[in-house]
Amino acid sequence: MNKWNVCVLFGGVSPEHAVSLRSAESVLNNMDPEKYNILPVGITQEGDWVLYGGKDYSLLPTEQWLQCPDNRRAAISPIRGQGLLCFEGDCVVRQQIDVVFPVLHGENGEDGAMQGLLQLAGIPYVGPHVSASAVSMDKTLTKLVADQVGVEQAKWYLVRRGDLNTRLEQTLDELESRFPYPMFVKPSGTGSSVGVSKAANREALSNALTAAAKYDEKILVEEFIRGREVEVAVMGNASPMASVCGEIDAGADFYDYDAKYVTDTSTAYIPARISETVEEQVREAAVKIYSAIGCQGLSRVDFFVTYDEERVVFNEINTLPGFTSISMYPKLFEASGIPYGQLIDELLKLAMEV
Ligand SMILES: Nc1ncnc2c1ncn2[C@@H]1O[C@H](COP(=O)(O)OP(=O)(O)O)[C@@H](O)[C@H]1O
Ligand SMILES: [Mg+2]
Repeated sequence: MNKWNVCVLFGGVSPEHAVSLRSAESVLNNMDPEKYNILPVGITQEGDWVLYGGKDYSLLPTEQWLQCPDNRRAAISPIRGQGLLCFEGDCVVRQQIDVVFPVLHGENGEDGAMQGLLQLAGIPYVGPHVSASAVSMDKTLTKLVADQVGVEQAKWYLVRRGDLNTRLEQTLDELESRFPYPMFVKPSGTGSSVGVSKAANREALSNALTAAAKYDEKILVEEFIRGREVEVAVMGNASPMASVCGEIDAGADFYDYDAKYVTDTSTAYIPARISETVEEQVREAAVKIYSAIGCQGLSRVDFFVTYDEERVVFNEINTLPGFTSISMYPKLFEASGIPYGQLIDELLKLAMEV
């Protein structure tokens, strides 16, 4: 059987560029070159596309991969059948692609934009398609879906960037009448906790709104949920399956960017420290949301399980979750009996199936 040509996209024009480099390093190191012809294509922070000519994927996180003399500029053509166009001097060489694994997080990679390009190109790809990606990346749209299917979540209120200029005091009054402090404030469309704050008073709330408005025109404000952070990995197309549940103890005030990637205060527990009954409720709710949004391939679905009554409260869904070797998504499937390499095989197969 011919090897599949697998194009792995990494980097991207996104606040989560650096995280993507780390995820891609692991994905590439766990993808079997005996089975696949691997085409690693990095997208710089400026938006240039480069086919990496080297094999040392540990050079990705430091951006040293960009110095490889065998790199070539390249781009996926939106024209069907053209595949990857590699630029060599004045010549363009076409490289056929069977499937793309977009190891991209956040804006432009996880939000449906890249999925739209791949859709136009007619190339199968790992992960949810355009609408499911867009809905999952926009936390307020995800909230509407969760409300619709009856999954419990934090009470929420949408603030628009324009409100901060025209009616800030009324907006703060409105929020204070709805939720007690602390409140959570987040840009509707980021990940990795970029722009997320916990506000303990009116001044902090005002600053948090301004901080979130830097990233998105839509700002989500939520009531604070006191509970364990429980995550579950889901994989599949029409019949998705859920992994065992994992739990993150941020070891910080909340699971912010530093707790995720900079300090090593956070601890992961697999399985999560919850009863079997609650674990089953989490898995059920995860598949419910995944199916309602119409996800393909994979997603990680995140919840809180409240300390007081063990209520299962949905937080968010990530359609291209972290993929480093210590990330929850691969870890959860590993704990469910599917090691990293096999997980990649499964995801590529699922991509070819739809
Ligand atoms: N309503 C909430 N109550 C308590 N903690 C929250 C709430 N919303 C977010 N958090 C904390 O902030 C972190 C990041 O928020 P999240 O919505 O998951 O955004 P991101 O997509 O950036 O991961 C969560 O992991 C959690 O620690
Ligand atoms: Mg999160």
